[in-house]
Amino acid sequence: MNIGILISGRGSNMAAIAEAVRDGRIPGARIAVVISDKAEAPGLAKARSMGIETAVVERRGRKRIEHDAEIVAELKRRSVGLVCLAGYMRLLSADFVRAFPERILNIHPSLLPAFKGLDAQRQAFEYGVKLAGCTVHFVDEELDHGAIICQKAVPVLDDDSAESVAARILAEEHALYVEAVRRVVSDEYFLEGRRFRRRPGL
Ligand code: GRF
Repeated sequence: MNIGILISGRGSNMAAIAEAVRDGRIPGARIAVVISDKAEAPGLAKARSMGIETAVVERRGRKRIEHDAEIVAELKRRSVGLVCLAGYMRLLSADFVRAFPERILNIHPSLLPAFKGLDAQRQAFEYGVKLAGCTVHFVDEELDHGAIICQKAVPVLDDDSAESVAARILAEEHALYVEAVRRVVSDEYFLEGRRFRRRPGL
């Protein structure tokens, strides 16, 4: 399975997936390309240092649909069968989503469906939750909405700040995203409505 990872920034989730692939923890997976919509994304250098091909597809004031079409072309050109959004800060167009049905994953730093959108860790912290967390889900045409693959809860402690909660969540994100990709690539799981579950009898 050729994987394409889309980033906009730091790329720590991308690196976690790439290291897991390198170490054989996601059997059958290969990272075909890391694509950023920002040339200055620090994650690009990280990917290159791991020997992974990278591409930059900047928006350059174009319409979302044109920008997305170029990214889809870059992915298809490399026979990508699974797309992982890892801190990719743009919403995907419906055309992009339809080009990879149930084959686009995203990680979101909250226990969805709570705290969708930007700055989810701070939203959760300010709401006063005692359990924060992260979710890996399939991407559909609605923001932070597709079927859930894996979730992990993280406690919020009395002396936490929004930043310390975010750091605790991030550490869990890395393991969670690896496990989610492993499950999707393994074919041991399937989607039943919104429920992503292990095949009976396995
Ligand atoms: C992570 O918190 C992820 O949940 C969110 O964006 C952040 C990306 O971080 N979608 P990184 O670029 O993977 O380090």
